Amino acid sequence: MLPLILAIESSCDETSAAIVRGGKVLNNVTASQSVHRKYGGVVPELASRAHQQNIVHVVNEAMTSAGIENTELNAIAFTRGPGLMGSLLVGVSFAKGMALALGIPLIEVNHMEAHVLAHFIEEPHPAFPFLCLTASGGHTQIVLVKGYDDLNILGETQDDAVGEAFDKAAKILGLPYPGGPLIDELARQGNPLAFKFAETVMPGLDFSFSGIKTSFLYFLRDEKARDAEFVDKNLNDICASLQRQLIKMLLDKIEKAIKETGIREIAIAGGVSANSGLRTELQRRAQKSGWTTFIPDIQYCTDNAAMIAIAAHFKFLKNIFSDLGVSPVPNLAIGKI
Ligand code: KG4
Ligand code: ZN
Repeated sequence: MLPLILAIESSCDETSAAIVRGGKVLNNVTASQSVHRKYGGVVPELASRAHQQNIVHVVNEAMTSAGIENTELNAIAFTRGPGLMGSLLVGVSFAKGMALALGIPLIEVNHMEAHVLAHFIEEPHPAFPFLCLTASGGHTQIVLVKGYDDLNILGETQDDAVGEAFDKAAKILGLPYPGGPLIDELARQGNPLAFKFAETVMPGLDFSFSGIKTSFLYFLRDEKARDAEFVDKNLNDICASLQRQLIKMLLDKIEKAIKETGIREIAIAGGVSANSGLRTELQRRAQKSGWTTFIPDIQYCTDNAAMIAIAAHFKFLKNIFSDLGVSPVPNLAIGKI
């Protein structure tokens, strides 16, 4: 029997549903929430309301486009955490309701593990053990992956996530949320060596992005005091310089992890792995040093239910199901479910 699973993702500001049959992802339907743009960041209350409005439509579209009836499903999967409580609650409650009504099992998935397991949606897959840099709006981690259910964090940010650094910098520059993709776009036309911002150097494999965020803020404050049009005149160079530094901070740590572990099978995941500069620089370093790299399709980098579906598939094969009394865990750590 090829297990047929409906997966729901609602941890932050994307409402997404996907169907997986026998480990093959059939679709990935996502409704993004534009309501946050004008606020310069995700507003939790608005996010949960938008999930509430979108979820029935998104799930229906996933079922219809795959040509599947509810009664054919073998399990319902959902994101248990980490994420925003109000957002998670919508997906968890919806999944519970469906599982109860259909009399089929529930499968809880850790969102950060799913970002890593997104590498098993499409060929070629990384071979175990591999290292995964998971960089998103809420997390920045180097994960040692020895199996589908054997993931360990070797290093992580001690303050802001790298996606947050992209988004906050964009906000300071007057760009709308989410700023990461816009900085990426503007950086293509800029000189990456035009400016340099002070950064905090962390020991081991940990990261810190709050220092560079603060020095970026003060740098712009001082330059704007000298010339009110500084940002307008130098926007592309500012974006290119900041992006170059953030990418270097990420890849220098990956290089260190490779030296420490001897593992040369390298994956990137999470929203920031969509960054074109990061993808190019990773490939350049990989070619030079003989690493094998795995870079997901853009639709599987940012939040999506396909990654929840594939993670749930591996749990289904091991008969790992959740109780109907399960509740969301906003700060759920890797390896805890
Ligand atoms: O994984 P994700 O969709 O949601 C979280 O789990 O946080 O990641 C969202 C983050 C945001 O900070 C967004 O600005 C960033 O990923 N991002 C990018 C790019 N695309 C998305 N950052 C830099 N360059 C991009 N192209
Ligand atoms: Zn995410």
